Amino acid sequence: MLVLGIETSCDETGVALYDSELGLLGQELYSQIALHADYGGVVPELASRDHVRKLVPLVRQLMRSCGVDRADAVAYTCGPGLAGALMVGAMTGRALAMAWGVPALGVHHMEGHLLAPLMAVEAPHFPFLALLVSGGHTQLLRVDALGQYALLGESVDDAVGEAFDKVAKMLGLDYPGGPAVARCALQGNPDRFNFPQPMLDRPGLDFSFSGLKTAVRLAITQTEDYPGKTEDICAAFEHAAVGVLVAKCRRALKMTGLQQLVVAGGVSANLKLRKDLSNLAGAQVWYAPVALCTDNGAMIAYAGCQRLLRGERHGLALALFPRWPLTALTGGEV
Ligand code: KG4
Ligand code: ZN
Repeated sequence: MLVLGIETSCDETGVALYDSELGLLGQELYSQIALHADYGGVVPELASRDHVRKLVPLVRQLMRSCGVDRADAVAYTCGPGLAGALMVGAMTGRALAMAWGVPALGVHHMEGHLLAPLMAVEAPHFPFLALLVSGGHTQLLRVDALGQYALLGESVDDAVGEAFDKVAKMLGLDYPGGPAVARCALQGNPDRFNFPQPMLDRPGLDFSFSGLKTAVRLAITQTEDYPGKTEDICAAFEHAAVGVLVAKCRRALKMTGLQQLVVAGGVSANLKLRKDLSNLAGAQVWYAPVALCTDNGAMIAYAGCQRLLRGERHGLALALFPRWPLTALTGGEV
């Protein structure tokens, strides 16, 4: 089954063709980063308008480069995300499916992230522990099968990606903040500031990042400026944030007895996180390729394909879910 995947939930227009037999045939990605950079964050109305401008030409380009003139099904992100932006992908996806006379299916954006590492030839198998780390989510889940996700812990305030973005903004670094902070951290000394690693002293698997963010704000305003201060703050912040993620993964593996850990979402592109998780004893750690960690069409095509193969389809009435917990999904073996 050849599936066209469409991702427009935030500030990336992503399209891809995934074939259930042949794998990923191709993908195209247009990032709106430059459009939103002046505002220091995503402006929803501008995002929607840019998806309208870019989506159809991207689909055309993808199909031309893959040498296909239609797909067997269309999968589009139907939540969570920005309502207007989701609408563009959903309407276009449905229209294409109707024109081709093929089924269409709305996909949960975070399920796309979660399953992306399974696209590889060598992939994890169920059950596994998953750490989902993005701009809006920090969650530990037990994954037993497609759609069978049990929440073990999550952030009680900011998501870790959001903390990276806010720290970058405080320091006057580029948007999006994660890659900018990580780049800057490479030049810094993590020991010059001692930031808290929140929630480590408490039992359980929840996270909190707002106290860490406040500690960074105080360091910025209350420490005298010196050359390299920004770099040192980035390094110490990354050290603290990654330290919490790694410690909670270790704890979750111990509590569940699982031996595979899947790390997914934009923050899973972070190289310090990958390096520190590689030292986790007794667990095999899986990621998507770095290019497929942040938002893209391939993960939506893949997750959509798994569900379409089970016979799932959505009717013509358009349902979008800007807020939608992953644990509300159902499923089973493919
Ligand atoms: O998954 P994603 O592309 O979008 C959401 O679904 O939210 O994640 C975006 C988040 C942003 O907060 C971004 O700053 C963060 O992922 N991010 C990173 C890195 N690359 C992206 N955070 C830390 N290090 C990175 N290398
Ligand atoms: Zn995402």
